[in-house]
Amino acid sequence: MAFRFAFLPLLSMLALTGCGDGDREARLKAAGPNPSLDALMRVANADAGAKTFGQCLACHTIGKGELDRGGPNLHGIMGKPVAGGSERFGYTAALMRVGGRWDRATMDRWLTSPQRFAPGTRMTFAGLPDPLARADVIAYLEREGRE
Ligand code: HEC
Repeated sequence: MAFRFAFLPLLSMLALTGCGDGDREARLKAAGPNPSLDALMRVANADAGAKTFGQCLACHTIGKGELDRGGPNLHGIMGKPVAGGSERFGYTAALMRVGGRWDRATMDRWLTSPQRFAPGTRMTFAGLPDPLARADVIAYLEREGRE
């Protein structure tokens, strides 16, 4: 029995390597029932997040020093002040009045529903309803911001 339990974490680690969307179920299982954002972040995968970020590319760049599009450049956004990602970008008052910084919890709420987070924001994106997809995108934003 002890042997088996000792190997369970190892097995889930193996299941987590080489992530794509294919191991989504394994990752959700590893996160446990009704996972908190912390639990989801433990199984989040930046590569899966990169794929989902395809939905953001119409309006956002993420490379260092890249130009703003319809939305601000998002390089290194995690940890920056809300509405503080790009010095050149003209943010709405709706987003500027939110205050605080982009930590995992605020980013998770924003990506759930931009309009609920900052009513009147110009980010006309419906939101990502899937909590694991949001955690993956946050992992991607964190990874792309590291340098
Ligand atoms: C249709 C265009 C559009 C899409 C698609 C879009 N955004 Fe945005 N985004 C914007 C705009 C415009 C703003 C600025 C909002 C404002 O000022 O109210 C913004 C702002 C942001 C900010 C705040 C940046 C800061 O400096 O504080 C983050 C973070 C963000 N978007 C992430 C995302 C992510 C992640 C996705 C994809 C899941 C996404 N956006 C999809 C247009 C878009």
